[in-house]
Amino acid sequence: MSAAPLDTVQYCLIVDDEPRLRQVLVHLMRNDGFTCLEAGNGEEALVHLEQHTITLVMSDLRMPRMDGLELLRQIRGRWPDIAVVMITAVADVEVAVSCLAIGAMDYLTKPFHLEEVRARVAQALEKRRLVVENRGYQESLQEKVAAQARRLEELFLASVQSLAEALEVKDPYTRGHSIRVSHYSVAIARELGLDGELLRQIELGGHVHDIGKIGVREDVLNKPGKLTDAEYEHIMTHPMVGWRILAPLLGETPVALNVVRSHHERFDGRGVPDRLAAGAIPLEARIAAVADSFDAMTSDRPYRPDGLSVDAAVGEIVRCSGSQFDPEIVGALVSAVGEGRIVVIPRSPSYFRAAALV
Ligand SMILES: [Fe+2]
Repeated sequence: MSAAPLDTVQYCLIVDDEPRLRQVLVHLMRNDGFTCLEAGNGEEALVHLEQHTITLVMSDLRMPRMDGLELLRQIRGRWPDIAVVMITAVADVEVAVSCLAIGAMDYLTKPFHLEEVRARVAQALEKRRLVVENRGYQESLQEKVAAQARRLEELFLASVQSLAEALEVKDPYTRGHSIRVSHYSVAIARELGLDGELLRQIELGGHVHDIGKIGVREDVLNKPGKLTDAEYEHIMTHPMVGWRILAPLLGETPVALNVVRSHHERFDGRGVPDRLAAGAIPLEARIAAVADSFDAMTSDRPYRPDGLSVDAAVGEIVRCSGSQFDPEIVGALVSAVGEGRIVVIPRSPSYFRAAALV
């Protein structure tokens, strides 16, 4: 028998309606270092179980009020680390075997020899130790894996951040744009009832949606006048460029990657790069498309120094509902603005910049 450590009390609970039998077992288990508690039936046993941290339960099957089988079920449900050894009359062996199926470690048949009890209890405790240790290993392994995943995500976000900063240096008009698109996207997504990991991915997608502009010539990015067709086409390569840059990094997170690739798709199928239409455009990209245009309209641009007011921008987006934008997403933007989840922060009398309360 594995001896109890000197500095900790190991409780053994003996449950039997025959006091004489309990006394025999108490004597035996005390000699093996346990502090013994006694109960005459399952109900009394539960009282002890609730008050003490018990290592081992030895329980009779047939008892008044609550029998051993019901007690075993309760122990398995509430205290899975307790080793339970059932004590049965020979006639109950079939029931005893079914106790093993429920989770008893072993069973003893009456009458028993004390040496046999010792050996079976030692076995039961060894099994319990292995089960508890095994679970401990699994938990610490899961913690290590989770910590590594967090570290990987931190490193990933740091590299995305440096890409975003590189883009802002190249194109000052994108400064803050990605953060605002991310906030608006989250506000719209919440309005649509989305939450959890999907929301986090949509937020990330907003942060990186224009990363591909790193591959666009600066003279085109910052051109104050109207773009030629060729220049416009050049700019509109950025969703695919961004997708190529981020696919190796975001392979595990397709939602954010979808935002990058498909935020310039149009609901009527006339967008880029894949000419997807309606429901074929990933939901997250339909959300980002509305958030992106909303911010583009409410911010100043090289070709339009004063942004529109929020009302004018919403009006323009509503006008394009069903052609450029998904009507359901437009509805969510209108609600978010109406409910004050997206509010305007005046910068100057002629200039409004929107900020999302998310
Ligand atoms: Fe874009």
